[in-house]
Amino acid sequence: MNNAPGFDALQSHATRLRGQSLPALIAQDPARARDFALREGALYFNFARQAYDRSALESLIGLAQARDLAGAYQRLFDGEQVNVTEGRAALHTALRGDLSTSATARAAHAQALEVQQRMAALIAQLEASNVTDIVSVGIGGSDLGPRLVADALRGPLPGRFRVHFLSNVDGAAAQRVLAPLDPSRTAAILISKTFGTQETLLNGGILRDWLGGSDRLYAVSANPERAAAAFSIDAARVLPMWDWVGGRYSLWSAVGLPIALAIGMDGFLGLLAGAAAFDAHALNAPLADNIAVRHALTAIWNRNALGHAAHGVMTYDQRLALLPAYLQQLVMESLGKSVRLDGSAVGVDTVPVWWGGAGTDVQHSFFQALHQGTGIVPLDFVGTVRNDDPYAENHLALMSNLLAQTEALANGQGSADPHRAYAGGRPSTMILLDALTPHSLGGLIAMYEHSVYAQSVLWGINAFDQFGVELGKQLANGLLPALKGEVAATDPVTQVLLEELRARK
Ligand code: F6P
Repeated sequence: MNNAPGFDALQSHATRLRGQSLPALIAQDPARARDFALREGALYFNFARQAYDRSALESLIGLAQARDLAGAYQRLFDGEQVNVTEGRAALHTALRGDLSTSATARAAHAQALEVQQRMAALIAQLEASNVTDIVSVGIGGSDLGPRLVADALRGPLPGRFRVHFLSNVDGAAAQRVLAPLDPSRTAAILISKTFGTQETLLNGGILRDWLGGSDRLYAVSANPERAAAAFSIDAARVLPMWDWVGGRYSLWSAVGLPIALAIGMDGFLGLLAGAAAFDAHALNAPLADNIAVRHALTAIWNRNALGHAAHGVMTYDQRLALLPAYLQQLVMESLGKSVRLDGSAVGVDTVPVWWGGAGTDVQHSFFQALHQGTGIVPLDFVGTVRNDDPYAENHLALMSNLLAQTEALANGQGSADPHRAYAGGRPSTMILLDALTPHSLGGLIAMYEHSVYAQSVLWGINAFDQFGVELGKQLANGLLPALKGEVAATDPVTQVLLEELRARK
């Protein structure tokens, strides 16, 4: 599917390059190994192993110009209603900086600063108490960002609060999280933008009962009154977020309270500063040197010119093991759309399936398919140059594997024995962080946010709504009485499954 204006030129480049292997592209233009690299602060990106040449890249940049990506970034930062279907801005950038002089963005930034002070005060209160453990209750955007960052940046030794995450409605999750904890030394934060999410309401009730009341319950919500009323939480312990922050873009708001509890408020502010530094790059760097734009254009090339239906993220830093799960929501909830802003069919394929894992483990599980399977999966490899553990030899081994995998995937290796031959030609982008710090991680996450936004603009879709998740929620609510045997299901297959569930209970 390739019917959107501007995409036919990409198709012509893909046709022109069809006979050329990836190693041949690099051999013909060895300078691209350096020239296709871009750096911002502690973040380095090398796109030399993507299957385009300079001419195709120029066309891609032409597409970014034609779609006025620079103007689109300005509108995002200014707080224009880029979420057209819900009539909302998407001002996550105002949570971490004040790059826009628009009154809307300024006001949002001022609100964010006020809430940061309230966060710091609540943390100080908790530090002065006997609380050692925090249970963060939330799901999706109210869970995955804090979970990723707290896990990535927590110290190797017990230090600050131990933060535990509870998201799934499956009671086994609550049972497992709570089993090792002491209710007299635990506090809970209920995080929900809407405070209408089934999982969080049910798990919040479990926490309130387990804690023996609401005294050590905290909440974060864009509906603070509802949060306070539903769980009798003192208003002083309910922090606001706002409609102008999308759930999956919200870890920079009070939704990041579990992060600040796990790594300290200074660490949280460092995360925001790193994101703000990348924001300045995304907003101000020329399109041709803009890392988020290049990342987005590479995604468009792989999806629309080459037709690849999946994208992998492999982290060669164990601390980033949750990055693929976080990105799955950020990318697939944002870009999993089939219609343009005006409701017309998008005309090109949009988001591929995003997935991934942590190397080197993944090499011993699914990398076989990446090397010799019939489908090609473009990959982002994310590594960290300096390790913070005392095991230098292991880090060298980790880095050697990172380099080896990207080389093997791109270059392949011939063999007289077809079973032992590697076709190569499998593209990847190398992303290196000088070190894993709050600042560099903030920048990396902001890069992905801005790449997602750029992709949405290139496809002409809304990155900030998610109506596709609603139908299943409605049906699940309707099926609760059917599960209790009060009514029959309307769908005949569901009815048989219900009978099976009841018979085997
Ligand atoms: O089901 C999807 C979703 O709406 C996400 O977009 C959101 O991050 C998540 O549910 C949780 O929503 P809330 O923060 O309102 O509980």
